[in-house]
Amino acid sequence: MSRPHRRGHTERQPHRRPAELPARPWEYALNTIATHQEQAAVPATGWWTEAVIYQIYPRSFADSGGDGIGDLPGITARLDHLVELGVDAIWLSPFYPSPQADAGYDVADYRDVDPLFGTLADADNLIAQARARNLRVIVDLVPNHTSSAHRWFQAALAAGPGSAERQRYVFRDGRGADGAEPPNDWQSVFGGPAWTRVADGQWYLHLFDPGQPDLNWDDPEVRAEFLDVLRFWLDRGVDGFRVDVAHGLIKQADLADWREPQEILSGQEAEKPRPPMWDQDGVHEIYREWRRLLDGYPGERILVAEAWVEPAERLARYVRPDEMHQAFNFEYLLASWTAPAQYAVITRSLEATDAVGAPTTWVLSNHDVVRHASRLGLPIGTAPRPNGIGVDDEQPDAATGLRRARAATLLMLALPGSAYLYQGEELGLPEHTTLPDEARQDPTWERSGHTQRGRDGCRVPIPWEADAPSYGFGPTDASWLPQPPIWAEYALDRQRGTPGSTYEMYRTALHLRRERGLGRGTLEWLASGDEVLAFRNGNLVVLTNFGAAAVPPPAGKLLHSSGPLDESGHVPTDTTVWVEV
Ligand code: NOJ
Repeated sequence: MSRPHRRGHTERQPHRRPAELPARPWEYALNTIATHQEQAAVPATGWWTEAVIYQIYPRSFADSGGDGIGDLPGITARLDHLVELGVDAIWLSPFYPSPQADAGYDVADYRDVDPLFGTLADADNLIAQARARNLRVIVDLVPNHTSSAHRWFQAALAAGPGSAERQRYVFRDGRGADGAEPPNDWQSVFGGPAWTRVADGQWYLHLFDPGQPDLNWDDPEVRAEFLDVLRFWLDRGVDGFRVDVAHGLIKQADLADWREPQEILSGQEAEKPRPPMWDQDGVHEIYREWRRLLDGYPGERILVAEAWVEPAERLARYVRPDEMHQAFNFEYLLASWTAPAQYAVITRSLEATDAVGAPTTWVLSNHDVVRHASRLGLPIGTAPRPNGIGVDDEQPDAATGLRRARAATLLMLALPGSAYLYQGEELGLPEHTTLPDEARQDPTWERSGHTQRGRDGCRVPIPWEADAPSYGFGPTDASWLPQPPIWAEYALDRQRGTPGSTYEMYRTALHLRRERGLGRGTLEWLASGDEVLAFRNGNLVVLTNFGAAAVPPPAGKLLHSSGPLDESGHVPTDTTVWVEV
């Protein structure tokens, strides 16, 4: 007898896949055929355990000023769209003063707003306007590195070797007779060496761009400073922080060579050593201290880890009860579009987070990966994380991509836990895969010697109105990345109120998800074959058909579907249905 994934059980029972499935198990819908290992931990409660959180990339969301770069007043003016869509919270990528060497992930001042995006008063107004609409606000915190323009880094350059100012960063003498070789062989995530030499001959570490020097988290001043930055934004009323590169703050003390190519994913097989720059045990104490600080504030403020850590059990350590609240589930984002792969990743994710009492999170797109409407249009088996797509690369099949993206989204939004959406995915927006190379801004493109296209293709300003300048992104034609002509087809005003549009599909799904409490529900597998996945959450049965042939839907009332059923009422390929039973 198997039992559903349900929070609060204490008895352990290993997950099992049925040896043999009935030919059409979803027809016998209510016989659970597989279950999850039950957890030992007390499950967390709170708004965030089931929230749908919408990522805003400020420079590409809405431009109020007409300079081609989105801004905070632009976001505030569009908040009603998010209310209508039906999300619970927004997460804002960085808007702080920055030379923009990495689109704002190079922060020069953690307590202000870059004039590109507005003023501190605009941030206060955005937070207040969001609150007035019952939308929570999460801001980005970038603690692994500052900008090289940060006053601390400038002071470190001026103060010289051995100074307290250099202690805040990772400065070292070079190797070789005259110190002309970098201190170790680490590569930057964006390509090229992870070290840059300064005028007096020392080198500083930057796991990302040279404009993003890594901080030294063994320095008490660094720790104190970030506690203060947290307080600064908590006092202004934010509901939480998305913590950038949360797995990178502590480096192995000996900075040992790592002969492997650099990857932000710490991805360790059991037998492989952990890279010396990622997922070191020392990071957890930092988050425990932050958690104590947040717990002292009213209103359930949260920490979300951006930690590219595998396997799921290792990632779950970031969301133990006294650490962060959530961690992005990138293993899910990277999983292939096949029934066995989706079954495996969903099961593993639930088990790993259940074991520590945290909610699982689900995410399909963000500002660092190829948008899922395009990613899923590449042949199954393509590298899960292509670093951008250029005009001479294999092009995704747009129709297949969108069909699968819609099916994947409906599958995701029925899963228990919290889900993240990335601006524009509610429009079915594809990646801009033919962006002219001269327009590219992601440092990856230059740093990789033009071998990696980078992430600009998912960051193009989004379309609101088909026939307006810059497709309604702003009052003028200006757009910091060129928008392709197909944007008109995806514009919000073409989809709003149009039955079957991607926007209306999202809206209905979010409404049903909230109404039926799917985020706080339980998952019971009903079918996990090679072609079909089906599960039950409350009185909803969700079925996704990955196979070529159409399959009959589960018996019951069809509530929602990612695409039309065929003439015989069957569920075609790459389609998800929600059926009330
Ligand atoms: C992760 C962010 O999402 C990405 O955009 C950025 O380039 C790196 N961290 C470095 O801050």
